Amino acid sequence: MNARELKSKYIEFFVGKSHAEIPSASLVPENDPTTLFISAGMHPLVPYLLGQPHPLGKRLVNVQKCIRTGDIDSVGDTYHHTFFEMLGNWSLGDYFKNEALNWSFEFITKHLNLDKSRLVVTCFEGDNNSPKDTDSAKIWEKIGIPKDKIKFLPKDDNWWGPAGVTGPCGPDSEMFIDGVEIWNDVFMQFNKDSVGKYQPLAKPNVDTGMGVERTTAFLEGHSDNYLSTIWQLIIKKIEFLSGKSYGTDEQITRAMRIIADHVRSAVFIIADGIEPSNKERGYVLRRLIRRAIRQGKLIGIETNFCSIIAQSVLDNQDNYAGIYSELNQNKEKILQTLEVEENKFRKTLNNGLKEIEKYKNELGKIIEGKPKYIKYSDIGKQAFYFYESFGFPLEMFLEEINGKLLLDPDAIKKSFEEARLEHQEESRTLSAGKFKSGLADHSEVITRYHTATHLLHQSLRQVLGNHVQQSGSNITGDRMRFDFTHTDKLTDDQIKQVNDLVNQQINKKMEVTVKSMPFTDAQKSGALAFFGNKYPEIVTVYQMGDFSAEVCTGPHVKNTQELGKFTIQKQESAGSGKRRIYAILE
Ligand code: ALA
Repeated sequence: MNARELKSKYIEFFVGKSHAEIPSASLVPENDPTTLFISAGMHPLVPYLLGQPHPLGKRLVNVQKCIRTGDIDSVGDTYHHTFFEMLGNWSLGDYFKNEALNWSFEFITKHLNLDKSRLVVTCFEGDNNSPKDTDSAKIWEKIGIPKDKIKFLPKDDNWWGPAGVTGPCGPDSEMFIDGVEIWNDVFMQFNKDSVGKYQPLAKPNVDTGMGVERTTAFLEGHSDNYLSTIWQLIIKKIEFLSGKSYGTDEQITRAMRIIADHVRSAVFIIADGIEPSNKERGYVLRRLIRRAIRQGKLIGIETNFCSIIAQSVLDNQDNYAGIYSELNQNKEKILQTLEVEENKFRKTLNNGLKEIEKYKNELGKIIEGKPKYIKYSDIGKQAFYFYESFGFPLEMFLEEINGKLLLDPDAIKKSFEEARLEHQEESRTLSAGKFKSGLADHSEVITRYHTATHLLHQSLRQVLGNHVQQSGSNITGDRMRFDFTHTDKLTDDQIKQVNDLVNQQINKKMEVTVKSMPFTDAQKSGALAFFGNKYPEIVTVYQMGDFSAEVCTGPHVKNTQELGKFTIQKQESAGSGKRRIYAILE
């Protein structure tokens, strides 16, 4: 059974149980400012799950387009996707556990013909907010699932939602076939409010979700989702362009999955009106496209290919373009956007190559002078910098750098990996906090604030004197805090001067440029360095026009105009001889 058949069977089944079919909503949420993309079928239905009457009644069914940005870094294995389709049926205060579980079972065993002996189910074990779900367990027993195949698990496993920061959520019961989760029935009984309290809903709902990609692979007998018919056209095209075969080499296979997944997601995101940019949804789109291009380079595709792969997504009329009219309607725009973005990124990659060349020369000089002092940790960090800023995979960096220098690639790999893990840890902390600030692309905000600290640092020096040195900073999605050496409280006039100077610089729309050089040269050139920090031999210096030059690892915005309006909110003492300023960007 292919994806199209699965989707129509599912809809037919629930329409047969008096459900109204609703179209997939756009990937861009209409009523949830806390998330960037629709991530589940229930997401566009939140107002109705909270009690607002739905015009089509109390029983709904659909196939919903979803994007889960949190999974970007996991894509490359057999089952993660950033874009996927979700089958879902809903009871808006109508039927509850008995009907929901019985129908799930009926559909799986009678319509998908899966053997019930392969089925294992899980139920919520209970906690302070919600009791143990013995009701569901009893229903499963009645259906005929043996007791030893009904497991009770805690909130981490058997609780779903909310999709954003607040909203409907509740305990769930999940179905597993041969150990793979295929369907989730959520019993939405609570509304999680903005202070994190679970308020019982007046009427409990049912929200279910079954992933099309995983179920199709399953029905077609594959343990790798990308082997199903959904991906065939796309993977074939990638094989053709690269001259390599899927499934022969682990790294090549992984790269092909990433290309296939990311280009498909990009197609759907562009079709819903998003363009690549450095902010929020546009930035996610840009990251997807760039990551696909990098992987393409890795498997030897040297010319533009995104729009060619996109064409195979669009050619899949049976499964996509025939169902999602936005694809056919925006065909030209999708292909053109990808082409323009790919051209741009290839230029960045080439600039990166030039930067690497410079770094290599500098490194060569150091090695010539005192070969014993090669610091692999610094080279690894640098490799990671090229990876982050220019999209250079480590392998490409090693190829470029190693030539005559005869460095130890394993030592570089090790420290690259350390830098990557450190960065991942930071991003995790950031994304854990992202919903709290109500801004989904938190890292983008942090980057803006980070760039603003450079402008503030220099402005303070100009207004107060060159004794001012940054001694600390702390950035959240909402504000920046900046500590510096200075004894006296700033006068209102000084605060105003600093504030105005920062905004003047922002409004100059200065490009933020980056150069790598030995730390001693950076110091000689007058670049500021963070007070008390230890620096590697080769450092990167970020410069904004003639105004600011500072040793820093980034990342930074590309142009100061991206910062918006800068406002100092308050100042206080930060201990002896130090002041602290709080400021926001709007
Ligand atoms: N909303 C539930 C999920 O995404 C069904 O798993």
